[in-house]
Amino acid sequence: MVTDDLLKKVDKSKMPRHVAIIMDGNGRWANLRGLLRSAGHTAGVKTLKKILTTAVNLKLEALTVYAFSTENWKRPLTEVEFLMHLFSEYLEKEKLEMHANNVRIRFLGRTEDFSPLIQSQIQSATDLMKNNTGVKFNIAADYGGQDEIVRAAQKLARKVANGEISAENITANVFEDELDTVGQPPVDLLIRTGGDLRISNFLLWQAAYAELWFTKTNFPEFTPEEFIEALIDFGNRDRRFGGVTKD
Ligand code: IPE
Ligand code: IPE
Ligand code: MG
Repeated sequence: MVTDDLLKKVDKSKMPRHVAIIMDGNGRWANLRGLLRSAGHTAGVKTLKKILTTAVNLKLEALTVYAFSTENWKRPLTEVEFLMHLFSEYLEKEKLEMHANNVRIRFLGRTEDFSPLIQSQIQSATDLMKNNTGVKFNIAADYGGQDEIVRAAQKLARKVANGEISAENITANVFEDELDTVGQPPVDLLIRTGGDLRISNFLLWQAAYAELWFTKTNFPEFTPEEFIEALIDFGNRDRRFGGVTKD
């Protein structure tokens, strides 16, 4: 459990507004223990619960987690089905507690290829929490950064065709309003567990100037302590956004 002492170590004035996590390494964590990959995913859900609680305690503005990519459909059907079942169970079990914690949940991604049950659970969790004012908790599911950008381009193309907007008026700000993260701050800190040094099609637009933080820890073993370590490290970064360091 995260102690108050640990939470106090975080300098609130240097906190990221938006943290995104590529929750990777569940399968390897399970393999190392002679378990099925599915056991790794179940363990990963437990970790996610602790990380969300930490984000609530820290009053983080936005937390986005990568749960299922547009490429993850390539996995064996048994694994995909297990992940779908876990996702559904997670939403059912956790939504009231999230709501009680003033969390505002949102889903990033396509969602239409999910089962009708999951689609209705996504809708009901979103509706339940839509007026909450606490942590903006985004779950990226059937999400790909390229797909999100393509969908945004399609929406704008339709608006141009309808005469709602002219092509010249499409700016970066206008474009952002068509993304799944509309209204949320850009990603300040992007964390990837599991040891791989890549983005894997996550938040390609929103992470343009994100600070990156990689750890070899597989997601089931990622702890609130290590999460806080990443936040503290973020506080010491010199973010220049293409400019120069302020004196
Ligand atoms: C991340 O863990 C969870 C999902 C992609 C759903 P992995 O399942 O990718 O685990 P590794 O990377 O194979 O260890
Ligand atoms: C990224 O992990 C997707 C999620 C964590 C949901 P992957 O395991 O799918 O990424 P790659 O295949 O190693 O790039
Ligand atoms: Mg992986």
